[in-house]
Formats: sequence, structure tokens, C-alpha cells
Amino acid sequence: MTDIQQNSETINGTNADGLLSPAKLGPYSLKNRMVMAPLTRNRAGEGNVPQDINVTYYRQRSSAGLIVSEGSQISPHAVGYPGTPGIHGPEQIAGWKRVIGAVHENGGRIFLQLWHTGRISHPSLLPDGELPVAPSAIKPAGEAVTFSGPKPFVTPRALEPGELPAIVEQYRQAARNAQSAGFDGVEIHAANGYLPDQFLRDGSNKRTDDYGGSLENRARFLLEITDAVTGVWGSERVGVRLSPINTFNDMSDSDPDATFGFVVEKLNPYGLAYLHVVEVDMLDSGPGRGYERRKLRDAFAATYIANGGYDRERGSLAVTDGDADLVSFGRLFLANPDLPERFASDATLNEPDPETFYGGDERGYTDYPFLPAKD
Ligand code: PHB
Repeated sequence: MTDIQQNSETINGTNADGLLSPAKLGPYSLKNRMVMAPLTRNRAGEGNVPQDINVTYYRQRSSAGLIVSEGSQISPHAVGYPGTPGIHGPEQIAGWKRVIGAVHENGGRIFLQLWHTGRISHPSLLPDGELPVAPSAIKPAGEAVTFSGPKPFVTPRALEPGELPAIVEQYRQAARNAQSAGFDGVEIHAANGYLPDQFLRDGSNKRTDDYGGSLENRARFLLEITDAVTGVWGSERVGVRLSPINTFNDMSDSDPDATFGFVVEKLNPYGLAYLHVVEVDMLDSGPGRGYERRKLRDAFAATYIANGGYDRERGSLAVTDGDADLVSFGRLFLANPDLPERFASDATLNEPDPETFYGGDERGYTDYPFLPAKD
């Protein structure tokens, strides 16, 4: 996929030409290879509807080659956090339309991330105080984020096999809604311990029916979702996100290479727009952190988006070395709305402020400064 020329002129050892070169993604021409990673920011309005402040935030970041939106609930039963947007109601579609309009006005591209949180939720966030659902009734260690602060996770209800088609149908409808809103495509969130990932990995999936046990069975739910969503969008406007070694949300798998190798082999025939891989364990920041990057890159037939602690130098090298086609940046885009321009000039970066990551107002959201305008 990669046909980047090594540039002879380097700044501080590495230039950012690889990241700043254009790329094809499905039917789209991206202006650079820098993707804004999906980031939960908990600033949707009443009814989980995108509002003015969200329009401003995404508009500010539209110089990314591609924006992947924050995770957006496919139904009221899929909610896992306060203030996260949905894509299941008309007001939400209307709110997203305004976000997309702003991004398109500035020549950007934006995919919506389709989200069901499964067991990473809490009755207080769900209709009628219902229990969160999961492949198996296994309570994750840790605490849910609720409107009244952190609360221990509850034991989720194991889904009956007969309930799964209705959830796949919610993905299909959410994919249609994303199309009505005007998104350029959608990403299926099958990473980070949310519902599809809970089915994929054997630490959270102990089922003995057609949806648990063998690799084929554990992958079934994700592949049914992929069938439904590509049926709406066509394959070349659909991406999938995976996180093979991430232990965030109390996740584990006895053989990630086998599990995710199988998943990628099954995704290949779809001809998807991309595979987006969280290559690291988000909870491990120590030395030795990392995943053998080329494993899924080499197994996947189309565009590969690498994610996980990349910076200007490592991102550029990943592209020039062919380890990735595109690289997604979370914290760096959060704190630097003009990240591509800063990489181009090797400018100093704003530091992200973790205190304002989740919830609040424009502080730490839309007030990170741009580089001063040049005359
Ligand atoms: C988070 O809220 O920390 C979060 C949400 C979605 C992810 C990962 C992390 O995929």
C-alpha cells in the first residue's frame, strides 16, 4: 500500500513527509496520513446529542487526513458513560450533521465510530435501570463512570442467543443513521473491552453456544455486525478497530495471536476500508510496552492504521518503513488542533491536560491554542 519516497532532507533526524503525504482510503483521497483517533470526551448535550461545542471541536481538527469520531452509541441500551453521543435518534443525527458540515467545509473527512459498551456500563445509565449485557455474566474488575461518580461494575446479564439478531439490527440501523447524517464512513468499535471485543476474547466469553468457545464462534458476532454494516455502506467505507493485547476494561485472551490472526483472516475477504489497531496495552506504560507491530499489518490485506503512543518521529518512521499506511493520534490531536501543521514545521506541541479529558466545558476541549498565523 505504501509508496513513500524517503526524503533526503531531515529535521532532527526524521522529517514528517511520510505522515504528511496524501493517501487513498477506499474511495477517498486523504490530504495526509494523520488520523485523529476516536476519543471519548463526554461533552454531548441533553439526550446525548452533539451540540455547538462539539461542532467547534471537530471543525478545529479537520486538518487531519481522517477523523474517527468518538464512540457513539448504537442504541439507548449501548450507553456506557455520561455525556457520550448517540446515533440512534433524529436529534442525534441532526447534531452530527452539523459536525460533519463543519469538517467537510474545511476539506476534512470523518467516519463515525459505532459503539456498544456491553458490560462496561451501569444500570443508572441504562433504560429502566436494566442490567448491562455481555456474552457471559462476568463482572469486570473496576468501576463504571456514572452521573453520581464512580460505582463498582455490576455483574452483567449474559445475552440469550435469540437476542443477538436484534443487536446486529441496531448496528445496521445506526449505520443507516450515520449515512443520513452524512458521514464519510463508519468504524466498528471491536476494541478496548466493549461488546464485540467481549465476544472475541476468551477472558470475557465463556459461552458454550455458537457464540463462544472456538475462534470461529467467538468471531461470529463481530462478523455478523460487519455483514450488516457493510450491507449498508459497502465495504470500502467501513473500518474495524481491534486491540489484541489491551488489558483495559479487565480484558484478557489466552492466545491473542491466534484469536486476532483468525479475526483478520476472516475480515480480509470483505475488502474493508481499513483495519485500525490499538497496538499497545493502554494500562502498561512501562519499558517493553508494545506489540509486535507487523503481526496484524502483514496479515491484513488493505489499509492499516496504527495506534498507540505514536509521536512525530515514530509515526513518520512507521509510514516510511511500511509498518503502517496511516497513523492515528489521540492525545496529540486532543491538545493540538493543528497537529499536521505542527508536524510539518516541527513546532512545539501543547501538552494535553488529563484533568479535562472527560466532561466539562470548552476548557481543555476547544481552547487549546493553534500556532500563530503566519503573515
Ligand atoms: C475511555 O473512556 O477511557 C475509553 C473509551 C473508549 C475506548 C477507550 C477508552 O475505546
